[in-house]
Amino acid sequence: MDKIIVIDYGSQYNELIVRRLKELNVYSELYPSTFSLEDAKNIENLKGIILSGGFDSVSDHSLSFNQDLLELNIPILGICYGMELLSNYLKAKINPAKNSEYGRSEIKVDNSLPIFKNLPLNFNVWMSHSDSVTFDDLTNVNVIAKNKNDEIVGFSSSNLIGLLFHPEVNNTDYSKEIFLNFIDICNAKRDYISPSFVEEKVKEIRELVGNNKIILGLSGGVDSAVCALLIHRAIGDNLIPVFIDHGLNRKYEKEELEERFVNKLGLKVLMKDFSNLFLDRLKGVTDPETKRKIIGSTFIDAFKHVASEYKDAKFLAQGTLYTDIVESGKGGISKVIKSHHNVGGLPKDLGFSLLEPLKTLYKDNVRSLGKELGLDEAFLYRQPFPGPGLGIRVIGDITKEKLDILRDADFILREEVAKNHLENEIWQYFAVLLSDKTVGVMGDNRTYSYALAIRCVTSIDGMTADFYRFDYEKLAKISTRIVNEVKGINRVLYDVTSKPPSTIEYE
Ligand code: XMP
Repeated sequence: MDKIIVIDYGSQYNELIVRRLKELNVYSELYPSTFSLEDAKNIENLKGIILSGGFDSVSDHSLSFNQDLLELNIPILGICYGMELLSNYLKAKINPAKNSEYGRSEIKVDNSLPIFKNLPLNFNVWMSHSDSVTFDDLTNVNVIAKNKNDEIVGFSSSNLIGLLFHPEVNNTDYSKEIFLNFIDICNAKRDYISPSFVEEKVKEIRELVGNNKIILGLSGGVDSAVCALLIHRAIGDNLIPVFIDHGLNRKYEKEELEERFVNKLGLKVLMKDFSNLFLDRLKGVTDPETKRKIIGSTFIDAFKHVASEYKDAKFLAQGTLYTDIVESGKGGISKVIKSHHNVGGLPKDLGFSLLEPLKTLYKDNVRSLGKELGLDEAFLYRQPFPGPGLGIRVIGDITKEKLDILRDADFILREEVAKNHLENEIWQYFAVLLSDKTVGVMGDNRTYSYALAIRCVTSIDGMTADFYRFDYEKLAKISTRIVNEVKGINRVLYDVTSKPPSTIEYE
């Protein structure tokens, strides 16, 4: 089987490169930046190498490109930081760019070159960099792509190719075509077939768990539901699904969850109310990471409490996805963006063995898996909802009063999205209660109430996102309804930032 491997320089997207190649039936794996010529020689049928992006600037000299690898005489593609490493080797100058580029950007390419074969001359790509690359001597270097400021964003030099943008993210047009072209350049056969995930996992879970019981926190979202069905298929009623009510749920969340899982899917779900404990522990806490950690550890305490009722509950299962792991700084050498409650918040003395059968998957994989396990599409395409719930959507200090205000506003937003049949168009849509009050006028009276932000984004996998271009009239209706119907809000703001530079959630 032919292989193209990826060297990890710390980008948030490095596993995504591996995945892109596997989706195109080429076997790939991620290797650390210490990858040596010796390591390469031990890989059979190695046809190409990709240097991932990274968070440092090459001028920091913290990581470098191992020039011994050139001996292999196979194509090497450097992406973003990877391109800077190759540029450095080719004696280019790397300086802070006049304008950093984060998000969508139009580039112009030379489509007579193999990497851009069959692509138009101009298209949009996803950038996330703050350096610029210039060459004094272009004798051995072909400039193959430039941005709107006429700066170099792509070059080739014999079998080295550099791209300053991220072809692996879905926001880059022709992402698939660029990878197919690179596979062609590497002369790699597309002969990798992924084995059945369900069969593999069911076998793995049965062997690991034996006759013990697994406790699983059911949040009502897609990830924990798919995780529950997968485990249920493996060990039946030895799975104990628990719904921990943390008081940070959306309006009617609990009722809908009971209807779906207990009444329709027949799972024996334990419903446990811990909302007072969560709100007590969160009282007065404003720091986002502290909130996440408190919510995470209170979840564990709640689980421990429930589990103490079961002598043989040795495992705790969670629907953690790859996105959660990367952003929590657990994927190789990536930086911590925020501690997702089901990763960074876990205390060391957990008391359970942790089972995370979905942790190598992205959201879209999980949806396909859910379909395979018999879940209906309407449920599978529900928008994601984070584990810490509204706790990270009430900015700053959390109170029951603020949560109720947010719940009502969020419900109106969801009602309007449904009325306008926009659920499939918007990947995630929610309201965020800001911490400050602002002045307004209602009737003839001055008001001093909270401002509410509305966040609606399009995305494929949550790793990158763009703000949804909401129709103004529809937005106006949402704003009017919220201000008129929800006591405590006198101002509605619409968020127009992409990810990066923002994240989807506010905390
Ligand atoms: P960010 O805010 O990091 O979010 O751009 C990316 C996606 O992840 C969701 N999210 C979480 N999901 N536990 C989860 O299960 C968490 O702690 C968490 N934090 C963010 C977020 O809603 C978005 O879909």
